[in-house]
Amino acid sequence: MKNYHPWWQTGVIYQIYPRSFQDTTGNGVGDLPGIITRLDYLNEVLGVDTLWLSPFYPSPMADFGYDVADYTDVHPLFGTMQDFDRLVAEVHARGMHLVIDLVPNHTSEKHPWFLASRASRKNPRRDWYVWRDPKPDGGPPNNWLSVFGGSAWDLDKATGQYYLHSFLKEQPDLNWRNPEVKAAMFDVVRFWLERDVDGFRIDVAHFIMKDPEMRDNPPNLSGVAAHKSLGAYDSQVHLYDKGHANVHGIFRELRALLDAYSKARPRFSVGEIHVYDWGEWATYYGEALDELHMPFNFSLLKAEWNARDVRSMIDGLEAILPDGAWPNYVLGNHDETRLRSRYGPDQSRVAAMLLLTLRGTPTLYYGDELGMPEATIPPDKQQDPWGLRVPGLGRDGCRTPMPWDATPSGGFSTTSEPWLPIFSTEGCNVEEELSDPSSVLSLYRRLLAVRKSHPALQLGEYQPIDLAPRDCFVFVRKAESQTIMVALNFSADPRALRLPDGFARGRLLLSTFEDRTETDIDETLILHGNEGLLVAICPAPSVLA
Ligand code: GLC
Repeated sequence: MKNYHPWWQTGVIYQIYPRSFQDTTGNGVGDLPGIITRLDYLNEVLGVDTLWLSPFYPSPMADFGYDVADYTDVHPLFGTMQDFDRLVAEVHARGMHLVIDLVPNHTSEKHPWFLASRASRKNPRRDWYVWRDPKPDGGPPNNWLSVFGGSAWDLDKATGQYYLHSFLKEQPDLNWRNPEVKAAMFDVVRFWLERDVDGFRIDVAHFIMKDPEMRDNPPNLSGVAAHKSLGAYDSQVHLYDKGHANVHGIFRELRALLDAYSKARPRFSVGEIHVYDWGEWATYYGEALDELHMPFNFSLLKAEWNARDVRSMIDGLEAILPDGAWPNYVLGNHDETRLRSRYGPDQSRVAAMLLLTLRGTPTLYYGDELGMPEATIPPDKQQDPWGLRVPGLGRDGCRTPMPWDATPSGGFSTTSEPWLPIFSTEGCNVEEELSDPSSVLSLYRRLLAVRKSHPALQLGEYQPIDLAPRDCFVFVRKAESQTIMVALNFSADPRALRLPDGFARGRLLLSTFEDRTETDIDETLILHGNEGLLVAICPAPSVLA
């Protein structure tokens, strides 16, 4: 079984934000039947094979579905349970896999569990959430902050206690130290496994275990922050409000549950874990690789976009990865500024090549394959509760509807007034990009096809090349019979690239410039500014010997 690689290692994950993908009812919100109508695009046209859906469960939508009111149903906005079953069947019929979002840290304040919990101090569900008495001065029990601004505690006047909410006050945190909570959430996992989903993306996975003594967080004196500024939240070191070591026991149990359902095919978990210490990050694979299959790796979002920093980030990851652990990379999601706007039109093509040629599973965010820019949303159309509470931190700009064609509704809906405005720059839609070989979509299609047809890119080793030209990051991916060189020019100026020593000649597989014509490369080649190249290289006889 040494060379066995399960689907979640060989494939490419594509994240769908269901509200914004395809609306079939004309209410301006995307739905599950809409996703079904686009499966052929995803599978055959684009070439991705694993879909991750952001939440589609019943929810008051205070945080657009990340406030779940019922974990085992479908919100009518998105369709019905029958639609879900059909989606699973259609995904599987195409040989694809479906990963759904599990939100274990908090429920909606409207979830029956919380309604019961807040009803009285004596309610059997009281301890399912985190309740504490006020401090003697009536203030919150400790200094913990909500990611979305303000204190993480809200006073329930009727019962005289505070409850914890790491996010909105409409998202009370569950108490995972209560075994009944774990049992209930594991039942949710079973429910979806029985409905044949292939895996789970676990929302803020490390948040579920906090310091049992609930100590105050220390102030952040060094100014170290996450990959982006989180406002007042950055004033503390978040030592005690998440990531307590007891979380690992939960993930080991979850893994055992997933493994028990893995007879027919492996079931999978990927955790959203934003920690910035590599050592700590790697612990989420589990000491015996018996916890999460992967913690999402957001390091590229944090790296300065230049050849040196990006390479050192990747080398750092490769060095720390536990033996046998599978890497992964993320360049965008529903919480981040669109890739196109982060790196600009030219470097975002280089970024696409990097993401799809590194060792490990890449995750693509819907619309990034079109080069969708971050949308500017007029103040009266803003929706994201985070942005409404902390101006500047809103995430609406990366959540606008998928533009399928150039019509006013973008082919997303029959209404031209969807939940967020259609925002696309000229020519940025599936229909037009498909007929333009120089489009971002054409580049992604070529990259995905080359990745799929080259084991070296899917599974090969990673070897950085030291003697790369200035501002270039060059590495080699190697499987038994194949060696592919990836050369990325992070500067706008041309650079002379010599094939690495020991390699006699190469054949151009793909360039981010669609009009590059070389076929054979003899030792040296000039990389254009902002160009990424894939070259299949043949070892020289001396190396073979
Ligand atoms: C995660 C989600 C984000 C959500 C938050 C609270 O970070 O990705 O969209 O707002 O958790 O559930």
